[in-house]
Amino acid sequence: MDAIDVIRAKRDGHALSNEQIDWVIDAYTRGAIAEEQMSSLAMAILLNGMTRAEIGRWTAAMIASGERMDFSSLSRPTTDKHSTGGVGDKITLPLAPLVAACGAAVPQLSGRGLGHTGGTLDKLESIPGWRANITNAEMMDVLDSAGAVICAAGSGLAPADRKLYALRDVTGTVESIPLIASSIMSKKIAEGTGALVLDVKVGSGAFMKTVEQARELAETMVAIGTDHGVKTVALLTAMDRPLGRAVGNAVEVAESVDVLAGGGPEDVVELTVRLAREMLEAGGITGKDPADALRDGSAMDVWRRMISAQGGDPDAALPVAPETHTITAPSSGVLTRLDAFAVGVAAWRLGAGRARKEDAVSAGAGIICHAKPGDKVTEGQPLLTLHADNASLFERALDSLEGGYDIGPGTPDLLPLIIDRLS
Ligand code: URA
Repeated sequence: MDAIDVIRAKRDGHALSNEQIDWVIDAYTRGAIAEEQMSSLAMAILLNGMTRAEIGRWTAAMIASGERMDFSSLSRPTTDKHSTGGVGDKITLPLAPLVAACGAAVPQLSGRGLGHTGGTLDKLESIPGWRANITNAEMMDVLDSAGAVICAAGSGLAPADRKLYALRDVTGTVESIPLIASSIMSKKIAEGTGALVLDVKVGSGAFMKTVEQARELAETMVAIGTDHGVKTVALLTAMDRPLGRAVGNAVEVAESVDVLAGGGPEDVVELTVRLAREMLEAGGITGKDPADALRDGSAMDVWRRMISAQGGDPDAALPVAPETHTITAPSSGVLTRLDAFAVGVAAWRLGAGRARKEDAVSAGAGIICHAKPGDKVTEGQPLLTLHADNASLFERALDSLEGGYDIGPGTPDLLPLIIDRLS
C-alpha cells in the first residue's frame, strides 16, 4: 500500500477501506509514513469528513496500536468520565473520589492543559509531593486501596493517537469531529473502563462553540463506545461562562476540596453530583446517592487516601501566587456576561496554562471570579482577582479580559448548565 494513494482517496472525497485505515495507522505508528504525509491526510479528513464506519475502524486501529488495560481483576465495576475541556473545569477532582465512595472503581487517566483550558494533572501537581506519573502496577494498587486513581496515561496507551494529536496540534487539524472523537475514544477504550460518561462542553470556552457541533461530537463518541461494548452516555454542558469561581491550578484544587467538604459553588456541586449519578448508573451501581457521600465525608476520605497514595500531602498548604490585581465593577447592575474564553485566556497568560507542551505552569497563578453571571453587582465591588507570580503578567491578562464581561439592567442569556443527555 502507498500513503499517497490513501491521501488522494480522502482528498477526492472517497471513504477509506478497512485495509487502508489499518495500514495507515500501523505504518504511521512505526514511523513508516512521513509526518508531512500524515499531516496532509489529517487535513483531507478535516475537509472531507469520515463515515461512521471509517471513524469506528480508525478508532479500532488506534486502540490496536498499543496496550489495553485490564481491570477485570478488580472486585468493583469500573466507570469513568471524560470532559472535552473547559475553563474552571475541575470536576474530575471531586468526582473521582465521590464515585469511588459510592462503590465504583474509577481509573481516571488524565492529561495536561494546552492553551486556554486547564489540565487535571497540572491542577493536582500543585499539591506538594503528588506524582502524576506512576506505573501500571502502582495505578492498580491505588485503585485497589482508594477506589479511585487520577494519573497520567502511560505512553503505551494508543501511541498512534499520541503522535497524531501532537501533529494535529501544529498543523491546524485539531478541529475535526471524526479526529477528535476517535482520539478521545481510542484512549478511553484502551484504558479498559466498563462504562464511560462524556461531558461535552459547549460555548466560547469549549472546543465546540455551538450545541449542534457538540451534539454531533457526542453522538459520534457514544456510537464508538457502544460499538466497543463500553456503556457510554454523554451530557452536553455549558461552557459559555467559567465553571465555579476559581480558574487556575491550586485555586481549583482548593475549590474542589470545598466541594468534597460539602460546600463549594452551586454549579460545580450540581454538575459533580449529576455526573456521579450518570457514572454509577452506567456502571450498574445502585442504592447510593452521591449527594449523601458529599455530606457524610466519605468522598473526602477517598480523596485523602487517593492523594496520599500518590505521594501528596492532603493537609499541606497549597501554593499561593504572591502578586494580585483586582478588577472592580465599573457600574452597578447585573453581571449579564462573563465570557469563559476571555477568562481562560487571561488565566493562561497569568501562567496557569502553557503555550507549548514542554512549558511549565505556575501552581499559584489564576483567577477568582467574585461574581457570576446573574449576580447583582455594585459599582466598585471586586469582580475578578488575578493571581500571578510576577506582576508584569497582569497587562496582557487584562487585555484579554477587555470586553469579556457586561454589566447591565437585563437578565443574562445563558446556556442551561446541563443542556442535554445522549445515550
Ligand atoms: N482531546 C483529545 O484527546 N483529542 C482531541 O483530538 C481533542 C481533544
